Amino acid sequence: MNIPEITAAEAASQIEHGALIGVGGFGPAGSPKYIIPQLAQRARQEHAAGRPFKVSVVTGASIGASCDGELAEADAIDRRFPFSVNAQLRQAFNSGRVRYNDLNLSDNASHLRQGVTGQIDWGIIEACDVQEIHGRVRIYLTAGIGIAPTICRLAKNGVFIELNAWHSTRLIGMHDIYEIEAPWFRSPVRITQPVEHIGMPYIETTPDRIRGIVYTNAPDEAREMLPATPATLQIGQNLADFLVWNMKQGYIFKDRLTLQSGVGSAANAVVGALGSQPDVPNFNIYTEVLQEEPLRLIREGRITAASTGALTISSTHLKDLYENIDQYRGRLLLRPSEISNCPEIIARLGICSINTAIEVDIYGHVNSTKICGSKMMNGVGGSADFTCNAMLATFTCASTTKDGRISSIVPFCSHVDHTEHYVDAIVTEYGVADLRNKCATERAEAIIAIAHPDYRPILREYLRIAQQGGGHTPHALSKAFAMHEAFMKKGDMRLTTFED
Ligand code: COA
Repeated sequence: MNIPEITAAEAASQIEHGALIGVGGFGPAGSPKYIIPQLAQRARQEHAAGRPFKVSVVTGASIGASCDGELAEADAIDRRFPFSVNAQLRQAFNSGRVRYNDLNLSDNASHLRQGVTGQIDWGIIEACDVQEIHGRVRIYLTAGIGIAPTICRLAKNGVFIELNAWHSTRLIGMHDIYEIEAPWFRSPVRITQPVEHIGMPYIETTPDRIRGIVYTNAPDEAREMLPATPATLQIGQNLADFLVWNMKQGYIFKDRLTLQSGVGSAANAVVGALGSQPDVPNFNIYTEVLQEEPLRLIREGRITAASTGALTISSTHLKDLYENIDQYRGRLLLRPSEISNCPEIIARLGICSINTAIEVDIYGHVNSTKICGSKMMNGVGGSADFTCNAMLATFTCASTTKDGRISSIVPFCSHVDHTEHYVDAIVTEYGVADLRNKCATERAEAIIAIAHPDYRPILREYLRIAQQGGGHTPHALSKAFAMHEAFMKKGDMRLTTFED
């Protein structure tokens, strides 16, 4: 090959202060792992010498903990887009040290193409194989794609590839790489079932775009799933029952059930519960991250076809997948995030979306991102992409958190990511509030009925007071955040009175 082999430190040494770096992968899956820690090391050295050194970072979603964590610890990030789950970086966002743009994942690649995000200077992506054929280079990605194709095309100075021997070349053929065209003359993104190929199994570019290959050998940084709790299992069961009921009513397709399953143990438990429901026919998945339960169900034949942006499973499960990859061929595809989260496809496939809420208010607005209205948790990720375009948009949450001191159901959300107009149903361990075809008061009653029993009287009292003021969607604005204020003052939302 005509592409030079370089070390991670040599790659990092070429990246200048102020650069915008595009990083491939989606979540911990397929994130590069060697160059960015070297960049953090370089930032520390520059800072020690009294020189400024910060870069901006755009990724598919979050990246591996070591990358975001090391850059945050080295105080080496200026701007960060579009999503992160890293605790150190979260602190930096909330203290104002890092400028964070929390963006719908489906918009991320378009913003880059439009130039809204700025010019990417360098790309860093991970691959399981790189081949040079007839003067062109084929890059075969690993367990997550994100915005890697767009990065490879747009990065001004070119791309560094981390060729990671840990990932198996048996992944070749499992990717479908396609970049959406500019608006006006854009062709339809013609995916009519989850594993339909519309693109190539690799990113194609020219050798001069690749500024060096760093040979690596390290697993992804995805953690083992937390075991399901009684609450998450019950939420899973409640949602599974609700989907079956919707099928029986004819509200959603019985023979073409296609789910988006969000991230986290509740989402994993829901898919597991659906898989074990005898009333649920075999189903499909079209989603941005695929966890362990769906993979088990693919092997068992319960899931017929699955499209995802990333395999966010532990390294043990990923190794197992590589060893048994033939069981998944033709039934599993990995896609760039603008395709895994593409509104056009989500609407076409009639997807039932399942996402997780931080809090929900009595009229059905959902907060996915901010604690008490201001502290960033992770970001909206792909939840709005799916919620706004799904045939049935659901949110799950345990009715309380922090040992019951916080109710997930509140009079008014302290921040709104998903409005009542897009949210169809809320699921807690106490049941399902089906919000469709209901007026505001009926919604409030349905939602309060699935709150934790400790909080139901409080929420009913709020509604009673609010209704005295009348209106279609009654609120008592001076008391709407009384539960949040009580938590901030005394660490518990359980109010004894709404009186001042
Ligand atoms: N007030 C204060 N804290 C709250 C809270 C509330 N209303 N609700 C949850 N929390 C806290 C929890 O106590 C927990 O704190 P800890 O880390 O100190 O234990 C933390 O938030 C995470 O909550 P958890 O119940 O563990 O939920 P999760 O890991 O399933 O994450 C979201 C829930 C909403 C944060 C997560 O799903 C998310 O970031 N969603 C947005 C992105 C998205 O939906 N992407 C699309 C799907 S892939």
